[in-house]
Amino acid sequence: MASSSSSSLITIFLLSSALAACAANFYQNVDITWGDGRAKILNNGDLLTLSLDKSSGSGFQSRNQYLFGKMDMQIKLVPGNSAGTVTSYYLKSLGSSWDEIDFEFLGNLSGDPYILHTNVFSEGKGNREQQFYLWFDPTDNFHTYSILWNPQRIIFSVDGIPIREFKNAESIGVPYLKNQPMRIYSSLWNGDQWATKGGLVKIDWTKAPFTAFYRNFNDATACFWSGGNAGKSSCTGSSDHAWMNEQLNTTSQEKMRWVRKNYMVYNYCNDIKRFPLGFPAECSLLKT
Ligand SMILES: *[C@@H]1O[C@H](CO)[C@@H](O)[C@H](O)[C@H]1NC(C)=O
Ligand SMILES: *[C@@H]1O[C@H](CO)[C@@H](O)[C@H](O)[C@H]1NC(C)=O
Repeated sequence: MASSSSSSLITIFLLSSALAACAANFYQNVDITWGDGRAKILNNGDLLTLSLDKSSGSGFQSRNQYLFGKMDMQIKLVPGNSAGTVTSYYLKSLGSSWDEIDFEFLGNLSGDPYILHTNVFSEGKGNREQQFYLWFDPTDNFHTYSILWNPQRIIFSVDGIPIREFKNAESIGVPYLKNQPMRIYSSLWNGDQWATKGGLVKIDWTKAPFTAFYRNFNDATACFWSGGNAGKSSCTGSSDHAWMNEQLNTTSQEKMRWVRKNYMVYNYCNDIKRFPLGFPAECSLLKT
């Protein structure tokens, strides 16, 4: 695991994670979609838990669909020996040429680091994996995982620190996620075929059930889609909708460089073995 770090940066980051905004209520915002009682909404709608045992995992989805937005969720991941478990949190549209923005947390043996796996699909094509270690133990406490999705860019952030930017690269022929409304989905499932050390470490079922915790979902700044295929979206957020043009300022870019330098463990845009004939076009827009 990467070790170099700056304690002053870390202090700033911890402070920003404490600024989690007004909590939405899970009873109003999500539907539990599978798991036969293994997913639970607790504390009057403030807390949601997903669990996984040998028979099944569990999951939920948002009631709303979005066409652009800024979404935050606080998640506390499966503690202890979580090897083989995958906790996923993502946006996805329907159909065979779907769009998707993924956070997936790959569990590990006690004391070994989780991997945060990210991916972006546009019109059904993904293969854009980037993976990170985290600069904290994601099972100790809740941390905020955010997606900013506007017409120019998608920014993945952790506790307010950007870790990945996927820019609109339509000008060089890469389809962008801008026509298909997406819902939020989350699930806890058995991924031990591939998740931990590439699938070598399997789930220890004597430790089941495995549980992940969610709170403070925030979609207050978003364009909400209504009316099915012929629907339309209505946007909230500041009256000028500045977030629709939001980009990384120099401070945020510096933080992102710090994460990518010290904590990134895989970047498809550096994987020459996988792309011997040249990297995907959007890689030319990535500076790190
Ligand atoms: C699990 O721990 C091992 C050993 O430290 C590490 O190589 C691996 O990247 C960690 N994460 C996953 C999900 O395999
Ligand atoms: C940079 O952006 C971050 C995140 O949006 C914000 O909190 C910060 O105030 C901005 N800094 C400057 C110098 O504009």
